[in-house]
Amino acid sequence: MLIVRAASRRYGDDPALERLDLEFQNGVYGLLAPNGAGKTTLLKMLAGLLPPSEGEILYDGEPLADLDEKYRMKLGYLPQRFGYYPGDTPLKYMQYLAAIKGMNRKEASERSELLLDAVALGEAKRRKMKTFSGGMIQRVGIAQALLNDPRVLILDEPTAGLDPKERGRFRSLLTQLGRDRIVILSTHVVSDVESAANEIILLKDGRVFAKDKPEGICLMLAGRVYETKIGDAEADAFRERYAILAERGEPDGWRMRFVSEAESALPQWQAVQPTLEDVFLYVYRDAEGRAPERMLFPREPAGSGKRGESV
Ligand SMILES: Nc1ncnc2c1ncn2[C@@H]1O[C@H](COP(=O)(O)OP(=O)(O)O)[C@@H](O)[C@H]1O
Ligand SMILES: [Mg+2]
Repeated sequence: MLIVRAASRRYGDDPALERLDLEFQNGVYGLLAPNGAGKTTLLKMLAGLLPPSEGEILYDGEPLADLDEKYRMKLGYLPQRFGYYPGDTPLKYMQYLAAIKGMNRKEASERSELLLDAVALGEAKRRKMKTFSGGMIQRVGIAQALLNDPRVLILDEPTAGLDPKERGRFRSLLTQLGRDRIVILSTHVVSDVESAANEIILLKDGRVFAKDKPEGICLMLAGRVYETKIGDAEADAFRERYAILAERGEPDGWRMRFVSEAESALPQWQAVQPTLEDVFLYVYRDAEGRAPERMLFPREPAGSGKRGESV
């Protein structure tokens, strides 16, 4: 079990994370927050690479600082950016890392081949990495994090650069891995974690805003998410008044998905089940109530009457 106890991290005077308390058992944990929220900082602390400014992190009851090498033996880590020599093949790169981790040559070779197969790089394992797509490089990164069959696997934005097919394959690998180890991954893409993560952690303002099962997180907006059709003339006023989660232009107005904090709904509003994406957009909306910019696109493919996409 991995425990974060009142851990803070400052950069100079800037408090990046403040007094976090977290517990991790076997399973998949999705650290979900926009850029700059402190995901990498937390993951580096959990990997024992960055000491907390205050507080402590314990693995099976012992501070990471004391475990040092013993913890590294149990840890797999994919940094947000990882270095490799472009002229290397994935097989050579993996074998090199395995040697550093103290594996013998035969074990290193077998394990490297097995893992490269697992991330669907079996065919490409003897090709130079400089010919690889971003998604292929990222898959090498995921494979190397698994070399020592880690008990604690920490992946910092592992799906960056993966295409939809690669993402799907990665999600099934995740659920498999999470059955008998702690897997913690960061992402700002909701779909990466909504089906695969046992628990979601939302960071906000340097603190843990929520840590719960995906269903539990969705309950935060239960009974407050609606959809309705708004005519052109009222659209701007509506946007001012409600937190818009998504909108889609249609020939005769706008289809709006929004949050209402009011007790009673208007008859023309349809109550809908909140999704994890709704919660993400709402929690991280800005002071004017606007959703994070990157998320302003229609939730569903627009019909033939499509006119505009977003504000
Ligand atoms: N080495 C550093 N020196 C100074 N500030 C940093 C450093 N690393 C991160 N920060 C700051 O800490 C905050 C959290 O960053 P980070 O952990 O990288 O967030 P995320 O991974 O969620 O994008 C940001 O405001 C960032 O600018
Ligand atoms: Mg980061």
